[in-house]
Amino acid sequence: MAADSSQKWILMTTAQTPTNIAVIKYWGKRDEALILAVNDSISVTLDPQHLCTTTTVAVSPMFQSDRMWLNGKEISLSGGRYQNCLREIRSRASKIEDEKKGIKITKKDWEKLHVHIASYNNFPTAAGLASSAAGFACLVFSLAKLMNVQEDQGKLSAIARQGSGSACRSLYGGFVKWVMGNEENGSDSIAVQLQDEKHWDELVIIIAVVSSRQKETSSTSGMRDSVETSLLLQHRAKEVVPKRIIEMEEAIKNRDFPSFARLTCADSNQFHAVCLDTSPPIFYMSDTSHRIISCVEKWNRSEGTPQVAYTFDAGPNAVLIARDRKVAANLLQRLLYYFPPHSDTDLNSYVIGDKSILGDVGVEEMKDVEALPPPPETKDQIPAQKQRGAVSYFICTRPGKGPVLLSDESQALLNPESGLPK
Ligand code: DP6
Repeated sequence: MAADSSQKWILMTTAQTPTNIAVIKYWGKRDEALILAVNDSISVTLDPQHLCTTTTVAVSPMFQSDRMWLNGKEISLSGGRYQNCLREIRSRASKIEDEKKGIKITKKDWEKLHVHIASYNNFPTAAGLASSAAGFACLVFSLAKLMNVQEDQGKLSAIARQGSGSACRSLYGGFVKWVMGNEENGSDSIAVQLQDEKHWDELVIIIAVVSSRQKETSSTSGMRDSVETSLLLQHRAKEVVPKRIIEMEEAIKNRDFPSFARLTCADSNQFHAVCLDTSPPIFYMSDTSHRIISCVEKWNRSEGTPQVAYTFDAGPNAVLIARDRKVAANLLQRLLYYFPPHSDTDLNSYVIGDKSILGDVGVEEMKDVEALPPPPETKDQIPAQKQRGAVSYFICTRPGKGPVLLSDESQALLNPESGLPK
């Protein structure tokens, strides 16, 4: 007997999915509805321990409609992007039978069964960190598991892509390429894993969450304007990115940090140049972002070879990739020197994520921050001005793994009896 509304069972799945930072940027679509990019892109997956989305999806004959809660608040699922992901997953659902629980769902049942979705980010959504990437990746991954979808991870990435382009790269850990593809229906526009997270595990990533008051242009509308008005975007997509993708794959494969850093910084700078070349121009970086770039550039030059790569998405936050832990400690020391917190800030909330790097810097409390010496590369110059309060906080993290299922029911975000948020 197939599922009917007199049945009381609830079937639930919980998954956790990482966010990612592009080192060769996706900027511009050739198809708005299917979300097909004008160029390939490459990203590093960030450790989900510090930045991730957890999503619980549930299905039951008792549910009256599809519903979703994000960080505890109900949101509408009527948007095209949610609808596309739900439709694509549902059409690939297969039958499920669990005699013990009395659950039997046929392929046909999935068309009329409703889902409840609860999603939670372990980092502040307002911080302007790519929450839609982890969010759509987690939605698609968890629904696919719940509905017993038999497709491989590449096919799932093509579905997540229809939620948000960058989401397709969050289906894998380590180093990931989104192949733009050629097919009109987008079937070959998928993510592939270049290397897993263990391949280059010396890298340390520090994110400076930059204080910002201005309302930013969303990636979606910003890239639409760039496609319509920027000649630099056309040149970048045709001439620059294809070569950079080859070089970046090589740099990652060989763990060649100088090439990796050179390409990462150049690509971030070109993406922001495209934004400036857009009419009207888009400014994502702030004065603080520019200061962070100068500080890294000056230091890299004084060392003779790059120690740190920087990259900025559609916002002022800096993502800094240090070649190893020792460099990361030196980087954090510089960042804390240039961007000390306001005096009433608790150090514990100013540096979050892997706090152990603070120990390497010899900083245990606020007075240690105040006592930090100026970086040696400023020695012969007037020390650069400190910008107190310009950074909201730092997150220390590293390259991380891809999506995982959480089998422990206590980690579920929906109540197993009611199917509503806990
Ligand atoms: C600057 O994936 O957020 O972060 O596909 O419209 O949802 P939509 O855009 P989104 O754009 C990300 C742009 C970027 C670069 C990148 O992640 O590659």
